[in-house]
Amino acid sequence: MTVLVTGGAGYIGSHVVRLLRERGTSVVIADDVSNGVRARTEGIPTLEIDLATDVTPKVLRDFVTEHSVDSVIHFAARKQVGESVQRPAWYYSQNVGSLANVLMAIEQTSVERVVFSSSAAVYGEPDTGAVAEDAPTRPINPYGETKLAGEQLLADSVTALGISVTSLRYFNVAGAGWPDLGDTAVQNLVPMVFERLDAGDQPKIFGDDYPTPDGTCIRDYIHVLDLAEAHLAALDHLDARRGAGERPAASAFNVGTGEGSSVREVVDAIARASGMALEPEVLPRRAGDPPKLIADPTRIREVLGWQARHGLDEIVASAWRAHIAG
Ligand SMILES: NC(=O)c1ccc[n+]([C@@H]2O[C@H](COP(=O)([O-])OP(=O)(O)OC[C@H]3O[C@@H](n4cnc5c(N)ncnc54)[C@H](O)[C@@H]3O)[C@@H](O)[C@H]2O)c1
Repeated sequence: MTVLVTGGAGYIGSHVVRLLRERGTSVVIADDVSNGVRARTEGIPTLEIDLATDVTPKVLRDFVTEHSVDSVIHFAARKQVGESVQRPAWYYSQNVGSLANVLMAIEQTSVERVVFSSSAAVYGEPDTGAVAEDAPTRPINPYGETKLAGEQLLADSVTALGISVTSLRYFNVAGAGWPDLGDTAVQNLVPMVFERLDAGDQPKIFGDDYPTPDGTCIRDYIHVLDLAEAHLAALDHLDARRGAGERPAASAFNVGTGEGSSVREVVDAIARASGMALEPEVLPRRAGDPPKLIADPTRIREVLGWQARHGLDEIVASAWRAHIAG
């Protein structure tokens, strides 16, 4: 098996690359390193390319053929919600356009499996606290729309390309499996608090008057290493289905713990990990933040046999170690 990991120089992709290599799987990467770290690709055949350009299908097809790729894990995407609101067309061209190019590149190659980085953003602001995969998909920003469009494009490609597809809808990813693979983007709560601490400021909490036990928003935090393992479970499952002679199909799974942590609980965990006394500054609510968003992870547990192994303290402590190391 050779796995092409697009976005393999990024935060989550680099974890999957490392896990795959640890278990002896051959890996190649395609990444323009626009938001990745080049050191993470050292010693691994890497095609440095913007996947959203016209030449991509041809160039990537040659790379896929040269390395006898049979599986693709597609991480490469832009992921900033606010930027997607400012530049919707660019987000569609980057996220949906790149995926379309990857699919054109693998036409009539030996690729049989595709695992896609989707997001809980496909659900928008769900009515219930714990969201199952059959909940309505109603993204509330262009970023979420590009993920939903990606899932649809993949589902439409199953029969035409003879590929089996798994979309993984990640909830709130944090932590680091290795200190050199920390999250370098400052967009999620944990890195945002670290940035404040580095500047000598206290963390900010947006709203403490939500209908939750401590008044702050509740999210489902998933350790990036657990998330990375879910990708391996997804590949193995696609492999087993193929081995059993099952027809190509597309499916989607939530990747979360099913447990929620409030913003205040995360800040408390950061205080424990860092040994700092933290007194967050409470600001008004931000628009578009649902009070509670957690995964119902039943389907992934039952079908892929995967479940998260790490809790909030381990997530935050690993993120802190990576922050200190970085
Ligand atoms: N981090 C999260 O909290 C989170 C949550 C849900 C879904 N996701 C999805 O998971 C995937 C990986 O996220 P991440 O946090 O590792 O992001 P990241 O930015 O660290 O990694 C993405 C990688 O893809 C590359 N890339 C982006 N656009 C590209 C393009 N057009 N051509 C070639 N390379 C390109 C970047 O250089 C980077 O190395 C993304 O698809 C993201 O939307 C992330």
